[in-house]
Amino acid sequence: MKIVIAGKGGVGKTTIAGSLARILAEKHRVIAVDSDPSMNLHTSIGVENPAPISELKDLINERTVIGQGLYNLNPKVDDIVNNYSSNKNNIKLIVMGTVEEGGEGCMCPENTFLRALLRHLVLKRDEVLILDTEAGIEHLGRKTAERFDLMLVICEPSFKSVETANRIHELAKDIGIKNVYGVANKITSNKQLNLIKKGLNFEVIAYVPFDETVIKADMEGVPLADMNHSNSYKAIVELAKKIEEVEKA
Ligand SMILES: Nc1ncnc2c1ncn2[C@@H]1O[C@H](COP(=O)(O)OP(=O)(O)OP(=O)(O)O)[C@@H](O)[C@H]1O
Ligand SMILES: [Mg+2]
Repeated sequence: MKIVIAGKGGVGKTTIAGSLARILAEKHRVIAVDSDPSMNLHTSIGVENPAPISELKDLINERTVIGQGLYNLNPKVDDIVNNYSSNKNNIKLIVMGTVEEGGEGCMCPENTFLRALLRHLVLKRDEVLILDTEAGIEHLGRKTAERFDLMLVICEPSFKSVETANRIHELAKDIGIKNVYGVANKITSNKQLNLIKKGLNFEVIAYVPFDETVIKADMEGVPLADMNHSNSYKAIVELAKKIEEVEKA
């Protein structure tokens, strides 16, 4: 099961990604991948950050650079999960890190390597994969994107968040992600939930209530999964069940 979590900034992607990792890890081996430059998925899982992959300059150069601007597009990456992740129970966390030169799509050794790694994680591994993203998903190549079983687009009750979610949905369809579902987050009323259900051009699979416990967890820097299990956490447990149903379908 390969899951990508997307949505506008601040909607709750990392909270939901980290909690889902913890919940799914009760039954499955999980690889969680943080591809957001702010690198805070580890806090929502409750594990130390490993070294960001993009900073392994020597290893990347050794495996990727052939010389004179030529890159090996298929560098060895199959040892990365074991050697450059941090572990918590059934979860291995990989942090992609940032590539500074020349923007998202640039052909540089780091990007070439990160793309190859993601392709490996999606195509070759049998663990559950949970990818927490920054806002955009454009950088997922078609080959990689097509193999995701599921994209969850997190959406809070705001016009802008709905608008962004619809845009992400279009893009996800264009690059071939099969199942794209909305998750309404920070909900305080039926009115808000309905606003999202009406606004999204695709199905809302679950909703998570607004919950002070999430804010408290964030203030203390501990994962929601380690707090007393409140309504938001229970809702994410329900979301995990829905995900397993989608997988079986
Ligand atoms: N269900 C919820 N109830 C209350 N607050 C929430 C809820 N979900 C998320 N938040 C709060 O919203 C803020 C953003 O959450 P989070 O970091 O998970 O979002 P994000 O989409 O990953 O953000 P970014 O785009 O910056 O990566 C945090 O302060 C978090 O405490
Ligand atoms: Mg985040």
